[in-house]
Amino acid sequence: MSSNLNFYKNKVADIWPNDQEISKEFIFYLKEGLNLKDTRIYIDKDYLLSNEEQKAIEEFISHKKNGIPLDYILKKSFFYGNEFLVDERVLIPRPETELLVDYINNLNFLNDIKILDAGTGSGCIGISIAIHNPSIQVYGLDYSAKSIEVANANKNYFELNNFSLIHSDWLSSIKDGSIDIIVSNPPYVDSEDKHLRDLIHEPISALVASEGGLGDFKVISNQASLKLEKGGMLIFEHGYQQASDVSDIMRENGFNNIESFKDHQSHLRITKGII
Ligand SMILES: C[S@@+](CC[C@H](N)C(=O)[O-])C[C@H]1O[C@@H](n2cnc3c(N)ncnc32)[C@H](O)[C@@H]1O
Repeated sequence: MSSNLNFYKNKVADIWPNDQEISKEFIFYLKEGLNLKDTRIYIDKDYLLSNEEQKAIEEFISHKKNGIPLDYILKKSFFYGNEFLVDERVLIPRPETELLVDYINNLNFLNDIKILDAGTGSGCIGISIAIHNPSIQVYGLDYSAKSIEVANANKNYFELNNFSLIHSDWLSSIKDGSIDIIVSNPPYVDSEDKHLRDLIHEPISALVASEGGLGDFKVISNQASLKLEKGGMLIFEHGYQQASDVSDIMRENGFNNIESFKDHQSHLRITKGII
C-alpha cells in the first residue's frame, strides 16, 4: 500500500505532539536521507512514496523512538562547511568545535610545520585544518581503532595527501620535539555528569575523563610539553566551566602565554598555551 507524505507528517506529529525539534529533524531527513526536493515536501501533497521511501521513514521513526541522534541515522554530519561520515564508532562533531579549527586556520604559519589533532574521532578537526592548509602536514591520533577506521574513510573521501593517522595512547608514540601545534578536544565530562544520560548512543570513551573530567588534560599537557618543539602551541577545547582548571594544568606543565577564548554563547571554551 502506498502512502503520501502527509500520512507520515501526521504520524510523526501524533507520536511526538508539539515537538518542533523532531518535526525539523523529519524534514531534514527527507531532504538529506531521501533526497526529496522542497516541492515534494511542501507542495506536491499527493506524491506517493515508494516502498523503499516508506520503509526508510518507518526506520527513521523507530530509530527516533530509541533516541538515536539524527547524524547517526543519516551517517553524516556537517562540520566546518563539509560533510563527514559519522556512525556509532565516533563522537558526533559539535558546532562549538569549529571555533578550535577557526583559531588554527586564522594563524599565519610557516609551510613546513606539523600539526597533531590528539583524539581525532571522525577526523573532523584535523581534516578541516588539512583541507584549508594543503601545504602543511596534519596528523590525526586516536587510541580507538574504530575511530581510526572512520577518520580514514573521511581522509579518503576528501582525497587528502597531507593528513595521516596514528593509532596511539595519547602522545606516547610521538617523538620528542617533533610537533609544532597540538590541538585537542579530549574527553572532558565528569563520570557523574547528568547530561551523560542524553548521550547514551555516543562512545563513552570519547566523552568521559577521570578526575572529574580533567584527567586527559593532565596527561596530554604533560606529554605535550615534551613532544612540542620549543615555542610550540597546545590548544584545547574544554567544558564551559573548565577554563581556569585547564589553564592551571597547562601552567603546571611549563606552558606560558596562556589565553582562553569565548564561544558564541560567551563561555570560555578554548585555552591555548606556548611551551
Ligand atoms: C571528545 S572526542 C573528540 C573527537 C573529535 N576530535 C571531535 O572533536 O569531534 C575525544 C576523542 O579522544 C579519543 N581518546 C580518548 N582517550 C584517548 C587516549 N588515551 N589516547 C588517544 N585518544 C583517546 C576518543 O577515542 C575520542 O575519539
